[in-house]
Amino acid sequence: MRSRRFFFIFLLLANLLSGQKAWVGAEYTATKTAEGERGMVVAPHPLASAIGAEVLRQGGNAMDAAVAVQLAIAVVYPRAGNVGGGGLLVIRTQNGETDALDYREKAPLAAFRDMYLDSIGNVVPRLSQEGHLAAGVPGTVAGLIEAHRKYGRLPFKALIDPAIELARKGFSISEGEAARLNSFQEAFRRNNTLPNPFIKPLKWKAGDRLVQKELAAVLLRIRSRGEAGFYEGKTADLIVKEMQRGNGIITHEDLKNYRPQWRKPVAGQYKGYRVISMPPPSSGGIALLQMLKMVAPYDMAQYGIHSKEAVHLMAEAERRAYADRAEYLGDTDFYRVPTDSLLAAGYLQQRMADFNKMQASHSKALSAGKFKLNKESFETEHTSVVDAEGNAVSVTTTLNSNYGCKVVVAGAGFFLNNEMDDFSVKPGVPNQFGLVGNEANAIHPGKRMLSSMTPTIVEKDGELFMVLGAPGGSTIITAVFQVLLNVVAFNLDLESAVNAGRFHHQWLPDHILVEEGALSPEVRKGLEDMGHSLQSVKYMAVVKAIQRLPGGRLIGVGDPRNPDDDAEAE
Ligand code: DON
Repeated sequence: MRSRRFFFIFLLLANLLSGQKAWVGAEYTATKTAEGERGMVVAPHPLASAIGAEVLRQGGNAMDAAVAVQLAIAVVYPRAGNVGGGGLLVIRTQNGETDALDYREKAPLAAFRDMYLDSIGNVVPRLSQEGHLAAGVPGTVAGLIEAHRKYGRLPFKALIDPAIELARKGFSISEGEAARLNSFQEAFRRNNTLPNPFIKPLKWKAGDRLVQKELAAVLLRIRSRGEAGFYEGKTADLIVKEMQRGNGIITHEDLKNYRPQWRKPVAGQYKGYRVISMPPPSSGGIALLQMLKMVAPYDMAQYGIHSKEAVHLMAEAERRAYADRAEYLGDTDFYRVPTDSLLAAGYLQQRMADFNKMQASHSKALSAGKFKLNKESFETEHTSVVDAEGNAVSVTTTLNSNYGCKVVVAGAGFFLNNEMDDFSVKPGVPNQFGLVGNEANAIHPGKRMLSSMTPTIVEKDGELFMVLGAPGGSTIITAVFQVLLNVVAFNLDLESAVNAGRFHHQWLPDHILVEEGALSPEVRKGLEDMGHSLQSVKYMAVVKAIQRLPGGRLIGVGDPRNPDDDAEAE
């Protein structure tokens, strides 16, 4: 992927010097569906996807575009874009090789199992969700640099420059960002000192300019010193000072020791498709493959999308996968996750043995599956990219909640994550997404918290077929499951597949969440008669997907659930 590198360095520099870029000072509108031959970027903000598409145009490959988009999102999408967070990435190269990068945050060295419990063992409300103690050691900067080092083609400096420019000169915020900034003003004031780029006496409104000079300086330090520009020196000093101000526990040692980790993707077959996804510390890949294999024996097309039979079957598969998630999944560097057993055909067949076509199971009576353990070893963002050569990158990154723990590192201008809440802070006590866990996902110094992020790539007949993923907490895995089935089992085009209403079962609590309007009154009644309890939600995860049609044409689709989602062809 590096062969044409020097030619493209020249081209990109020439372009950067040639004056005003399309994304600076630009008015922007989001395009939901794009088509192209040569490359595609789908990202959560039009300014970010414009930068990604420009990088492809300048000869960058899919990884270059993904890295540039992530850096841009750190500026233009502050509620989730992050240098203060972490992420998970899956790549499939044009030759069909696959790889996964884990740059998930880690528990600080001073973290301990019961750190969010009071003296009598009760969870202290919100301690793992808001404020300095909620932050894990950020992984994004090390992750993006490592991803680029192994797979990038253009110089890193060229990929970070657009983000620096946007931070320095500012950009017009969207209506969605303005609304969110307004709704968190109180939390920002509670957790921060003034002045602060995100706190404003008057309400934010669409079109207001967000200038982030301190963040630009952080990005410049990363540009000139690489990882050391963040994990050492001035940026590290500012993070540690911020921690000390707010009784946080991240130290210089935590920052200096942070390393991303290359991992082997999990992969499995669903009918004629090979599904490649993220291994632990994500639960997404394993749960997705489990669910696909549990429903594979059934003729979904005959049931029909959103039919009572299909929703019942899929919800029961979801229930069983999430029960296993709670018991068996965690960071494999600390816990022996029985991946092979969880994905074994025989195990999944046995897991569905008590599936009753006419009646809902009850989560109280249905725990994690049993097998002999052997010695085998609501704010996030997703970007899907395919380049002209057929390299594909699927990457989901997160601060966890909107604006993470709400703490902005003073003098550095970026939000810190609240990823510690993704650990099981006490066995059986639900986190902000209602997820429960046990020993596998207990807190331990240096351990990574379990994630639901499910960056996924799908092959058909050995060729690239789809790239997809989403933000949405616990609903990410079921959203990827459903969008994929909408295409490969229910034969929808990609736009209809992404737009279609969704539903979600996560074992506990024992109900199906249903997006408003997703199911007809008859189907809802049918499911209730089977014993399912239904709860309505406005919307759940926000999927960004690319499909490669026979002959190579690319369709990119951003989700209407996020007005800023944007698909851009090269
Ligand atoms: O890693 C996870 O599973 C969560 N921290 C993701 C959070 C998320 O998607 C929130 N977004 N809407």
